[in-house]
Amino acid sequence: MHRIKEETNVRVGTKSVLFGAHCLALHWLFLAAAWWKLYGFPWDPRLWVAFIVHDMGYIGRGDMDGADGERHVELGAKIMGCFFGSVWRDLCLCHSRYYAKRLRRRFSRLCVADKLAFVITPAWLYIPMTRATGELGEYMQRSADRQAGGEKFTAEESAMISSADPRVWLEGLQSYTLRWVNRHRDGSEDNWTAGEQREVVAPGEHHKPGLSLLGGEEKPKEAQ
Ligand SMILES: [Fe+2]
Ligand SMILES: [Fe+2]
Repeated sequence: MHRIKEETNVRVGTKSVLFGAHCLALHWLFLAAAWWKLYGFPWDPRLWVAFIVHDMGYIGRGDMDGADGERHVELGAKIMGCFFGSVWRDLCLCHSRYYAKRLRRRFSRLCVADKLAFVITPAWLYIPMTRATGELGEYMQRSADRQAGGEKFTAEESAMISSADPRVWLEGLQSYTLRWVNRHRDGSEDNWTAGEQREVVAPGEHHKPGLSLLGGEEKPKEAQ
């Protein structure tokens, strides 16, 4: 009986993609709106593919922001790389500030739009969805860890993200994230995010990665 229950347990990452913070039916819409607001209308169809696949790597993951969940960027990056080449792979690979830091690369424009997508997702939608999947507790705990890690929260934001009330917590985190977006939308170096310096090798690469391709000469027109 116990074994049957274990086998039918759906992992939190899968639930997130099905009906949580990274819901396949919704998240890409907020992301497209965020991209439009930041960089103009996303005319390139490859961007729309990226909006849809970038978080698919959460499927099967046992946590969202831990060592397992952090690698969620890899699947979308592989898909984009396979169809559209390395620049588009990197657009997805570096949509996580933490993953980009570990690769010693600059976060991509998709990262900035993804953060703004979080900011514009309404609380009445975000809180019930993340509560239903079990993500909410992890995200609230993670914020406290980030605060301890020295991220640049204002005093008011710090107080808000320490709250046990999810609505207050969300407002504080969205306020911080919006400030991060405004500060980094032009690709400025991210000194706000505390990242581990452990080196990782990007999928499909066998050498030490250099700087962001998106920050260099190989920028795709739309991904710039
Ligand atoms: Fe993501
Ligand atoms: Fe996302």
